[in-house]
Amino acid sequence: MRVAVIIGSNREGRFGPVVAEWLLAHVRDHGDLESTVIDLADTELPTSLTSTPSPAVAAELAKTSPALAAADAFLILTPEYNHSFPASLKSLIDWHFVEWQAKPVAFVSYGGISGGLRAVEQLRPVFAEMHAVTVRDTVSFHNAHALFDEHGRHRQPEAPDTAAEAMLDQLTWWGYALRDAKETRPYGG
Ligand SMILES: Cc1cc2nc3c(=O)[nH]c(=O)nc-3n(C[C@H](O)[C@H](O)[C@H](O)COP(=O)(O)O)c2cc1C
Repeated sequence: MRVAVIIGSNREGRFGPVVAEWLLAHVRDHGDLESTVIDLADTELPTSLTSTPSPAVAAELAKTSPALAAADAFLILTPEYNHSFPASLKSLIDWHFVEWQAKPVAFVSYGGISGGLRAVEQLRPVFAEMHAVTVRDTVSFHNAHALFDEHGRHRQPEAPDTAAEAMLDQLTWWGYALRDAKETRPYGG
């Protein structure tokens, strides 16, 4: 099961990599998953869409599109900005379409008081429009900065570890179910 882990924050001084390391350790431990990381801090996709990308934009798309196309499933790591998800994520979503289709998407979120839950709930209808299936369980980190120590270790890992296992089990189930279904019958979206 090939899962693309998408790091949604590209903010200068971002906290995202700390949560990403926690998440990637769980993906590695899960066993069934082979992961690719798409870090949106490494891409410069413009917000203006075009059907004929310039060579510069095509070069940026080449950093993400093949990895999205090859993935069987997606794991989105999103912070919450102003009660929503970051523009970097929306841009990545909008630049693609078939790459998302008939694949499962799971979420890990973090933020201040909200833990990114509003960002996740806003991503669900966006991914429905992409013909993707969002996974029910999520992992969320409320007041995330205080939850990890200076080495990036979660101070009380038991609850998030359990939540991550449930979320990854569901993502894997959907990944296999949809991959098997598409082998039997191409998706007709
Ligand atoms: C522009 C901006 C808006 C934010 N809005 C919210 C918010 O609406 N709710 C919340 O719980 N946290 C909010 N936060 C806190 C962030 O979710 C938190 O700082 C998180 O670490 C940001 O992720 P990053 O450091 O990887 O960019 C906001 C932070 C920024 C920079």
